[in-house]
Amino acid sequence: MCGIFGIITNQKNISLGKIVLEGIKRLEYRGYDSCGIVTLSDSKLYVKKDSGRIDEIQKKIDLTEFPNDSKLALAHTRWATHGAPTKNNSHPHLDCSGKIAVVHNGIIDNFIELRKELAQKGHIFKSETDTEIIPHLIEIKMKEGLNFKDSVIEALKLCKGAYGLAICHADHPDSFIVVRKESPLVIGIEEGKTTYCASDIPAFLPLTRKCYIMDDDELAVLKAGEVEFFDINTDKKIEKEIQLIEWNIDAAEKGGYEHFMLKEIYEEPTAMKRTMKISKDLLRIFAKILWSAENIYITAAGTSFYASLAGKFIISRFLGKYIQAIECSELQTQLSNSLKDESVIIAVSQSGETIDTIEAIRWAKSKKNVKVLTITNVVGSSLTRYSDHVIVTQAGPEIGVAATKTYNTQVLTLALIAIEIAKLRKVELDSEIKKYEKALEETPQIIENFLKNNVDSIKGVVNALEKSVNFFFLARGISIATAKEGGLKLKEVACRFIEGYSAAHAKHGPIALVREGFPIIFIAPPDETYQRLIGNVMEFKARGGKIISLVVENDKNITELSDITIRIPQPGDKYYNIFSPITFTPALQLLAYYTSLHHGLDPDKPLNLSKTVTVH
Ligand code: F6R
Repeated sequence: MCGIFGIITNQKNISLGKIVLEGIKRLEYRGYDSCGIVTLSDSKLYVKKDSGRIDEIQKKIDLTEFPNDSKLALAHTRWATHGAPTKNNSHPHLDCSGKIAVVHNGIIDNFIELRKELAQKGHIFKSETDTEIIPHLIEIKMKEGLNFKDSVIEALKLCKGAYGLAICHADHPDSFIVVRKESPLVIGIEEGKTTYCASDIPAFLPLTRKCYIMDDDELAVLKAGEVEFFDINTDKKIEKEIQLIEWNIDAAEKGGYEHFMLKEIYEEPTAMKRTMKISKDLLRIFAKILWSAENIYITAAGTSFYASLAGKFIISRFLGKYIQAIECSELQTQLSNSLKDESVIIAVSQSGETIDTIEAIRWAKSKKNVKVLTITNVVGSSLTRYSDHVIVTQAGPEIGVAATKTYNTQVLTLALIAIEIAKLRKVELDSEIKKYEKALEETPQIIENFLKNNVDSIKGVVNALEKSVNFFFLARGISIATAKEGGLKLKEVACRFIEGYSAAHAKHGPIALVREGFPIIFIAPPDETYQRLIGNVMEFKARGGKIISLVVENDKNITELSDITIRIPQPGDKYYNIFSPITFTPALQLLAYYTSLHHGLDPDKPLNLSKTVTVH
């Protein structure tokens, strides 16, 4: 939630305003209800901020126009948590003297008490945010005689919560300070020239590939082209290694597509081919741990949870053991009396920064001697620090708020682990395992073929359903995960109400909603549930439902019962059916994308959402 960008430079011929605007725009996926910038000149801070998306604000106030001699700027794009998305609540926030400015990603949990205390001491607040207490606390510490850095450290000792912070002081034009606790922060550097901070690497990637990834409880003092790191608990200096970013900024820009979401759907085959190259040794480590575990849980949020539902099904098939999938926000409540030592928890998170997932894992580790196996798309993300073993999916940066290619690479990774388990356990013949392996290897090609040939037919479905605002996505078995994920995409980017549900269970209540023309999307690979699903399709058809089905290429029975079919170009045997969450989901992602466009919405920026949810 929220994006932070900061820069300090000694270069004369660069356009600071333009760099800051472009940097913060690359973080807009993290929140986009208001934006603000502070710069510094002649011992004065200059703040510009407003509510709205960055482009809208830019039309009203030129965010790029800074005093000529400015060499430092901090910027923020907000996803409101405390206080409505108004100009006053936008960051940066200042202290009473107007000398200290703070931009913040995260939440200060005890801000109400602190704000009361500060107000009693005469501090004046201009916003309803939790963030605004921070510059005032620093102001007090500086008045007590501490230097800037120590004031920040002492002020933060009073704050409970999560933060990625960037702080500047009008009387300190040659440096600014950043601090990280549970909210991501990275530092980019052009040695001797310019230093950047950001909530995510793409913000500075066109300018430098050299970066430092900050850990929790670290503070950094940024100067032009140099940076020093400190442990905020001991105040000791920390030596950190520069990391070289290998991916290119093209990977994080639209590359000719109208939206990131569309680009990222089309990147799925490549992302999956890269993910297939994950080290076999690492997959085997995961496989062995799962094989020897008695209790296995898989936990995640949102799309990652639906990937987990699909993945647990595939792994259980080869492991011969039950895996319990628990939404991360419920893990503690559900396992508080039953978590056992030596349990294994698989944590799945695209960003590796989802606070509910991190908290679930931290809680489990604090209670019992559990092993944590993490699947994430972000190297060095917070979740990886609490994990015994980590697999990084190779989706590349995902900018569209709705997860697409990361879903596919997550399910694929879980499927790759499942195949390794099959090889270890030897309960299947080698020839059988080879057939599963071949089917899995073909999944990128199946998706590529689908995307190449089916855009018009998906647009046709969008037109046919243009008047519908409510939908069911129904399925049985493993495809319930596909139904839930496909439905979530339509909900997020096209603002339709959907229920993703078990087709069998839907007659125990949801069917009451069905009237003439009510759209029901059935996910129907010809697996062991197919015959029963035919019965469910008929139940809904008999009540006037409009039947849209996702079927394999040579499907006949459900096709005959359907008003519209979307055909996935793949064989319909058991080797392929088990991986259908991978091959069927892109069709539903495209359906959501084009429905969003049809209704004039921006699929990259769904209302009220943020790519990385760092609040409880
Ligand atoms: C949906 C979506 C979210 C995320 C969820 C978890 O399109 O993107 O539901 O899947 O917030 O995020 P990660 O995977 O980063 O933990």
